Amino acid sequence: MDGMALPTRDEILKALEAVIDPELRENIVELGMVRRIDVEGDGRVAVTVSLTTPGCPIRNHFQTGVANAIGALEGITKVDVSFDVLTDQEKSNLQRKLGRGGGLPTGALAQVQNVVCVGSGKGGVGKSTLTANLAAALAAEGKKVGVLDADVWGYSIPRMFGLGSDRPPVSPQRKILPLESHGVKVMSIGFFVEEDSAVVWRGPMLHKALTQFLEDVEWGELDFLLVDLPPGTGDVSMTLAQLLPDAKFLLVTTPQPTAQKVARRAAEMAHKVSLDIAGVVENMSGFTTPSGERFAIFGEGGGQELADELDVPLLGKVPLTMPLRAQADAGTPLVLEDQADPAAQALHHTARGLIALMPVELPTLGVTQVTPVEGPAPTGMTLPMAG
Ligand SMILES: Nc1ncnc2c1ncn2[C@@H]1O[C@H](COP(=O)(O)OP(=O)(O)OP(=O)(O)O)[C@@H](O)[C@H]1O
Ligand SMILES: [Mg+2]
Repeated sequence: MDGMALPTRDEILKALEAVIDPELRENIVELGMVRRIDVEGDGRVAVTVSLTTPGCPIRNHFQTGVANAIGALEGITKVDVSFDVLTDQEKSNLQRKLGRGGGLPTGALAQVQNVVCVGSGKGGVGKSTLTANLAAALAAEGKKVGVLDADVWGYSIPRMFGLGSDRPPVSPQRKILPLESHGVKVMSIGFFVEEDSAVVWRGPMLHKALTQFLEDVEWGELDFLLVDLPPGTGDVSMTLAQLLPDAKFLLVTTPQPTAQKVARRAAEMAHKVSLDIAGVVENMSGFTTPSGERFAIFGEGGGQELADELDVPLLGKVPLTMPLRAQADAGTPLVLEDQADPAAQALHHTARGLIALMPVELPTLGVTQVTPVEGPAPTGMTLPMAG
């Protein structure tokens, strides 16, 4: 390759403008995610791309994109792509640049893969019961799970996990540590207020409390953070949507048509704040007597209809069973207690459905070795990716 000029740093940057972050919808050069470019005399190039989160599920997308973009340049023999993570400062700069208030996970939430808000249009349909049981079921599947009780007015999560009103400890880094129960990390306003005291949270105070729960709590590495929403379509959901624009919504409804109408309003709200709806869970789907006779106490079919209408999966139909209620009151989620109970079975099924829906975490590859190419790579060649 005598006399052949290798591409300059600027030419490589230019080529990298073809690599788009599909979520931020901007190229990685513009986003400031290209950390390093080293060009060796023999045509080897090493590039470091800075991700917004360490477990970024689109890592492979960047790997292939970068290798292809640079591999197509004249004189390039090998492309090494490695990754690191943007600092919190860089992330907030990026946020400012994108003109977004929230968005990229910073600080404590940086290691949380999936946030799922469990909501419904109206109260008492079983959001908290399902949240607690789904969290325990996900943990039983080997996932790292946290539950954020965002029902600051009518919190019920602590009781369902058998947690009292102990104040959570604070780490040396001044982060609040969630309490753990049944393998699930739990945070609730209930840990900070006197039992049964009326908490009046509105506007900025509410925003501040929720922000603290997300940013000042040491959630650590989580596969799932389930957020138990208060009933209705109000302030809390709006605030959370601002703080967690990547969160998914799980809609809980009962089988009857009126409940569905209310749930639809919640769905509209989710759309308005542009949260994706992951799916629907129908709760209180009939009751079967010990002799096997089934009664559709709250009607039939509402969950499926809503799911069809929203074009999302119906992830489960959870029947009414007495143990589901009793276990919630006793502080151990039913799914950990009785595998034979039909509600427990439906909840395990729903949890597995949730896992299946979430983006797959790719194995962490520090540095990708691209198969060495002898001599100069022909223009336009796509370098094969290792691993
Ligand atoms: N499938 C079920 N079988 C039996 N009991 C249930 C079932 N689902 C919920 N319950 C009971 O119904 C009551 C209301 O449930 P839960 O508190 O979970 O509803 P919610 O939607 O969180 O209510 P809120 O809107 O007040 O937060 C609880 O006593 C709970 O134990
Ligand atoms: Mg509740």
